[in-house]
Amino acid sequence: MSQWWKEQVVYQIYPRSFMDTNDDGVGDIPGIISKLDEIRSLGAGVIWLSPVYKSPDADNGYDISDYRSIDPKFGTMADMEMLISQAKARGIKIVMDLVINHTSDEHEWFQKSRDKDSPYRDYYIWRPGKPGGKPPNNWTGFFTGTVWEYDGQSGEYYLHLFHKKQPDLNYKNQKVVEEIKEIMRFWLDKGVGGFRCDVINIIYKSSLEDGKYQVVARGIEHYQSQEGAHRILKELRRDVLAHYDCFTVGESVMVDLDGAKQLSDPERGELDMVFYFDHLEVDRVVARYIPKKFRAVKLLQVLTKWQQGLDWNALYLENHDQPRIVSHYGDDGVFRERSAKLLATMLFTLRGTPFIYQGQEIGMTNFDFTELSQLRDVESYNIDKLIRSFFVPARIRWNWIRTASRDNARTPVQWSAEPGAGFTGGEPWLGVNANYKDINYREQQGRPDSVLNYYKQMVALRASNDTLKYGKFIPLYAKAGVIAYSRVLGEEEYTTILNFSGKPARAAGTGPVVASNIGRDSFDGSLSPWEAVVLGKLVDGRGKVFRPVPPSVSPVP
Ligand code: NOJ
Repeated sequence: MSQWWKEQVVYQIYPRSFMDTNDDGVGDIPGIISKLDEIRSLGAGVIWLSPVYKSPDADNGYDISDYRSIDPKFGTMADMEMLISQAKARGIKIVMDLVINHTSDEHEWFQKSRDKDSPYRDYYIWRPGKPGGKPPNNWTGFFTGTVWEYDGQSGEYYLHLFHKKQPDLNYKNQKVVEEIKEIMRFWLDKGVGGFRCDVINIIYKSSLEDGKYQVVARGIEHYQSQEGAHRILKELRRDVLAHYDCFTVGESVMVDLDGAKQLSDPERGELDMVFYFDHLEVDRVVARYIPKKFRAVKLLQVLTKWQQGLDWNALYLENHDQPRIVSHYGDDGVFRERSAKLLATMLFTLRGTPFIYQGQEIGMTNFDFTELSQLRDVESYNIDKLIRSFFVPARIRWNWIRTASRDNARTPVQWSAEPGAGFTGGEPWLGVNANYKDINYREQQGRPDSVLNYYKQMVALRASNDTLKYGKFIPLYAKAGVIAYSRVLGEEEYTTILNFSGKPARAAGTGPVVASNIGRDSFDGSLSPWEAVVLGKLVDGRGKVFRPVPPSVSPVP
């Protein structure tokens, strides 16, 4: 089957914050339908929909109580079918979020499994406690604390790597695998174009022995990228995915390059692409919460490792779990627009399938939270509790949470300068960023030099250009805030130069300007603050190949 997803740009929708049509403060499927033309005009050919299934919302829909129905707050199955067909009419495929490591504790399977004699008992991981009323092992979860919850009804504990309302399924039970296959067929038969697979490399728990010491996710060595997970992924492909024209992208927890290669090697027949985290943790100590200084040189090293190490990358800078990229790697103050465009330049000149997260295309920023009570995300509260237990002072704690909270990306999309940012006429489920009067879709639509229009240009540039899609990645130069790399296919070569700093810089090179975030049409080697430029050597011989000039080129391994 053709690998059509290599040609496409994916747009991620986090439904509850996208567009609300019934003024209950929560986005809905009719709201998505009403914005399909905007998504098409951006140039995206795929929408990845974060969960819209029935859910009690302990983790905003990533706790599913029925995989075959739509939660009433988002609409009906008829709305969903309408979305699939309306999207199709515009050449857009819908990709569903497949959350199968765990269900909600309100799922019928779990409710039945609480009875020790039920055939569903073995759908989940139930164990007796250790003597002295202790949980079965010492593992800690992704939302902190023990992974075991005691259930009085059956006198045993069940395993949950995330919230206690998200019990983990037991993938040693083949019946579970068969159930998942049926759920996948159900959606593929409705015409969806594939799945984004939630935390897919941790579904299989090889053993339940105690884990080695680490603060969060102690025990991970017993369930990360186990042979059992690889086997199940192969089976899902063989029995289900191979029979449909679709793709999968798997979120892979704490995955390294070798692990990602195994998961996405076409020969092995597991996933088509992998979401990894390295490139967003250049300025983080251990995962997302503890910051350190951003270094562009380090970013180029990480990009090089993944660009050259994997045949095909899932390219993303934002999603519903990450802070806004312009606040993270850019400058969300004076140079907001320019740095947002720089980041777009990078996204669309790397090799892989680019993903845009809702609001990224207008340069939305992190939320202006002033206190914890404004947040809704369960993870932020648990992390706060955890770091408090290490006696981290309140001010530092708040600073970490404020900059890294997942709610930064979950505030409503800013459609217009009207009250509620054009997202809702009601009370939004999470605050609207006060900057919506300045940063909104409508204002940018009408302005040729807006971030939105730059995204459209970059999507179109990539779409029309095989070198930007399929060319080899070659790192060229990295010093202070400036990085440069090129993409090469046959005789054609494009060079991207990015100045990740608020200071002017130099990086000499010649060639016709193919893209510029400051609207230049020629390049003389001097870079403005946060400037991004793409130079081309074209097949017809116009232009020259860019070569990094400064003698003190930092080596990129
Ligand atoms: C990853 C999802 O992206 C995140 O939002 C969720 O909390 C966890 N998986 C658990 O499903």
